Amino acid sequence: MEILKLLLFFSSSIFVLRLFKKRYHRGFHLPPGPKRIPILGNIFDMKAKRKEPIHITFTNWSQIYGDVFTFDVLGSRTIVLNSYRAIIDLLEHRSYNYSDRAHQPMLNEVVGTDWSFAFMRYSDSWRLHRRTFHQFFQPRVVTEYNDIQRKRTSSLVQKLMSTPKDFFKHARTHAGGIILEVVYGYHIQDVDDPYVHLADKAMEGFREAGISGSFLVDYIPLLKHIPAWFPGASFKSKAEVWARDVEQLKNDPWMVMKQSMVNGTAVPCFSTRSLEKFGISPSTLGDDSGMEKVIKNCATVAYGAGADTTVSAVLSFIIGMLLNPHAQARAQKELNDVVGSSRLPDFCDRDKLPYINAVYAETLRWTPVAPLGVAHAAVNDDVYEGNLIPGGSTVVANIWAILHDESLYGPDVMNFNPDRFMKEGKDLAPNPELIAFGFGRRICPGRYLAINSVWLAITYILANFTIAKEVDEDGKEIDPAIEYSHGLISHPLPFNCRFVPRSEALLLS
Ligand code: HEM
Ligand SMILES: *[C@@H]1O[C@H](CO)[C@@H](O)[C@H](O)[C@H]1NC(C)=O
Ligand SMILES: *[C@@H]1O[C@H](CO)[C@@H](O)[C@H](O)[C@H]1NC(C)=O
Ligand SMILES: *[C@@H]1O[C@H](CO)[C@@H](O)[C@H](O)[C@H]1NC(C)=O
Ligand SMILES: *[C@@H]1O[C@H](CO)[C@@H](O)[C@H](O)[C@H]1NC(C)=O
Repeated sequence: MEILKLLLFFSSSIFVLRLFKKRYHRGFHLPPGPKRIPILGNIFDMKAKRKEPIHITFTNWSQIYGDVFTFDVLGSRTIVLNSYRAIIDLLEHRSYNYSDRAHQPMLNEVVGTDWSFAFMRYSDSWRLHRRTFHQFFQPRVVTEYNDIQRKRTSSLVQKLMSTPKDFFKHARTHAGGIILEVVYGYHIQDVDDPYVHLADKAMEGFREAGISGSFLVDYIPLLKHIPAWFPGASFKSKAEVWARDVEQLKNDPWMVMKQSMVNGTAVPCFSTRSLEKFGISPSTLGDDSGMEKVIKNCATVAYGAGADTTVSAVLSFIIGMLLNPHAQARAQKELNDVVGSSRLPDFCDRDKLPYINAVYAETLRWTPVAPLGVAHAAVNDDVYEGNLIPGGSTVVANIWAILHDESLYGPDVMNFNPDRFMKEGKDLAPNPELIAFGFGRRICPGRYLAINSVWLAITYILANFTIAKEVDEDGKEIDPAIEYSHGLISHPLPFNCRFVPRSEALLLS
């Protein structure tokens, strides 16, 4: 109740303030959208006891209001883009105007994200960070990480052989192991590595608060000043825990890397090479300021994003195989025919494995890791197809809707069906890689590394295992219950399956 009173008090004052700021381009209307009530706007549409994830609500609204629709909550405006064309027109072709980030008080201020260029305003600081990051994650450089990926993926296979029931943990260790070595030169412990665990813990805040509007404070920034003990202010205590974990995420592996530089045992990696590139040597290492801070920030972003994203894609692939034995058999046959069984597949086989590539593409499409991407924001007023997009609006690309658009991908978009990518000729569906990683100047700069990690995991797993449903005492297969968590990054919730070693199956047959 307290929170409601607060809401009414703050909202009326904010609304009055916002009214003064409003200046519309004469003659242009906002895009259509759900009916709003005075002052509060669509707050009840957004906060109503929603059982479905927000990308589904948006997809539903787009069928009613059109590809580009708008809503507002307490005067803070969001424009949602639900067609590939609108997204390309605005976020790509007019990227100079749509590369800002939405202000998200819960994440940006209450938890604190000033170190993360993923949430920075479109600014010189963002450009500096992004350039620094890109140096060592661009296509030319990521091939240097292939050995790390091979090693960690072989380790994944071994772990799946010995303790298949723990496959969730193994998938996390796989993602974390790759990124920790790429970023800090850190070799993970074989079991229960503390930094793999830390990434999982510290990313919780981003998963939960990462979608603008997930917390009331996103709409009423003044709420950030209320103390944590205040009734209804549980978001504050949540944020305190997340902020503490994020501090550790930033500092712990970085400190170890710095110490190893000083004592001469450092393994060359993103951090050491970036520091060297900017002339920072073990003897000039300082107190994490200037370029040192920029590099540390980039390392943290890579660590967090790297440990928490590809793992979701690999688990979705496992679900796809589990539910589609025919697709799995066809993919394995292709591996047998092209690669044989005397060696593991490798990146040089990629062009010769169209069906594997279709399985990979379908994985990105079917259950996108980031269903709504990361919200952009418009810099200036713009007009699109006769409608006004006010400067400062949050602009959301509904990645899930595009990847489930029947006009692009065919009538069975809800099913995992790699065959849709096996067609030839013109009018092919857009490669999900062009959508799942976001758009324009903000497109995911970690995608080259991510693509290789996911692709290699898919091939190694298929080469060594057949993924099968759990069986009950009578040997009857049990249908798994598949569910996903919803938030900035979407993850499958725990489910059961079996990893049947193919070598074993051969012996039996
Ligand atoms: C399957 C894996 C991944 C997916 C699906 C994914 C997806 C995305 C998406 C949708 C965005 C938002 C783009 C936009 O604003 O339009 C993004 C941003 C970002 N991603 Fe990824 N990502 C993945 C893996 C990674 C990895 C492994 C890294 C780091 C090595 C990474 C680092 C980043 C960074 C730093 C940004 C912020 C870019 C900026 O704001 O300028 N991502 N990612
Ligand atoms: C939107 O959602 C409502 C309620 O869940 C449902 O009844 C309706 O059919 C959906 N509309 C569309 C166009 O999907
Ligand atoms: C160097 O520092 C690292 C990181 O603190 C430590 O693990 C390692 O044992 C040290 N090696 C030597 C030779 O002192
Ligand atoms: C995995 O598959 C490859 C290629 O078929 C094979 O050479 C390797 O021995 C398998 N690994 C294990 C642990 O069985
Ligand atoms: C944004 O778009 C508008 C209208 O198309 C244009 O006038 C303005 O210069 C653009 N803003 C920036 C920052 O370039």
